[in-house]
Amino acid sequence: MSSAQFPIRRMRRLRRTPALRRLVQETHLAPSQLVWPLFACHGEGVRQEVSALPGVYRTSVDELVKDAERARRLGLGGIILFGLPAAKDATGSEAHDEHGIVQQAARAVKRATPDLLVIGDVCLCEYTDHGHCGVVQDGDVDNDASVYLLGKVAVTQARAGIDVVAPSDMMDGRVAGIRKALDAAGFARVPIMSYAAKMASAFYGPFREAAGSDPQFGDRQSYQMQGTNGDEAMKEIRLDLDEGADIVMVKPALPCLDLIRRAKQEFGSPLAAYQVSGEYAMIKAAAARGMLDEARAMWETLYAIRRAGADIILTYFAPTIAELL
Ligand code: PBG
Repeated sequence: MSSAQFPIRRMRRLRRTPALRRLVQETHLAPSQLVWPLFACHGEGVRQEVSALPGVYRTSVDELVKDAERARRLGLGGIILFGLPAAKDATGSEAHDEHGIVQQAARAVKRATPDLLVIGDVCLCEYTDHGHCGVVQDGDVDNDASVYLLGKVAVTQARAGIDVVAPSDMMDGRVAGIRKALDAAGFARVPIMSYAAKMASAFYGPFREAAGSDPQFGDRQSYQMQGTNGDEAMKEIRLDLDEGADIVMVKPALPCLDLIRRAKQEFGSPLAAYQVSGEYAMIKAAAARGMLDEARAMWETLYAIRRAGADIILTYFAPTIAELL
């Protein structure tokens, strides 16, 4: 097989003008592929910026509804809701309360914008006083007791009108547990998007400030994955799919581009990637100091995540990008 070499083959020919570059662009972004994370808090008229995340707010339900309306206008794929409870306790009670903050927010959003897709993050860490993603027994996170509570979280969210539940806790067997709980409660139609390969990452730092969910003892390494392990990540994803996950997620995104690619090739199911708080904060902070061009860094990272194979991207840039598309 012969391949024509220089000067026959000149790669720069197709890079000469914007029109040519547009014609041969391989990777595209659409608002429908983007999911916007939103933080719901109690109160009224609250819109409080998270200091490490410029442009990201903790909002009371009335304000959050405005963001949801904006998401719908922009044609975003959806929003994902996180909650800041009125009080935290050992079992994260507000996470599975019919009148919890996420359940309230979901009801209000579905009333205002019924056709906007609303995803519920299913976890306990924002709601527990110890900040872990499950219940603690003898100094360790008890897997099966946590799965039971996560099932209750999912059911109360589905009852509040949430369209998709997204467990982010990394307990074993939680997809199967949540599926069973949803089906038993009459929500067989509600899909599960599992945070399947979720690494114990430094890049969640700013989120924990936003959600007040820093673990009060220890860390999350006994349930979140080691970033060093690609084969294990594939095993996690396979298990979640076998347990009934409809969409699987890799998280964080930029440090895991290889895993996004492998997951897309090995499983072919709808694949999400989460460009997490630290990835966003890094770009914002560097741009604020004049170290890099914010818009270009935003486009470059999101296209890289798409090119790696993600069908869906959760990103705090969602409304900004959609406005530019
Ligand atoms: C809850 C959860 C976290 C994130 C999403 N769901 C925090 C964590 O696991 O510590 C991180 C999102 C982000 O950093 O933007 N378990």
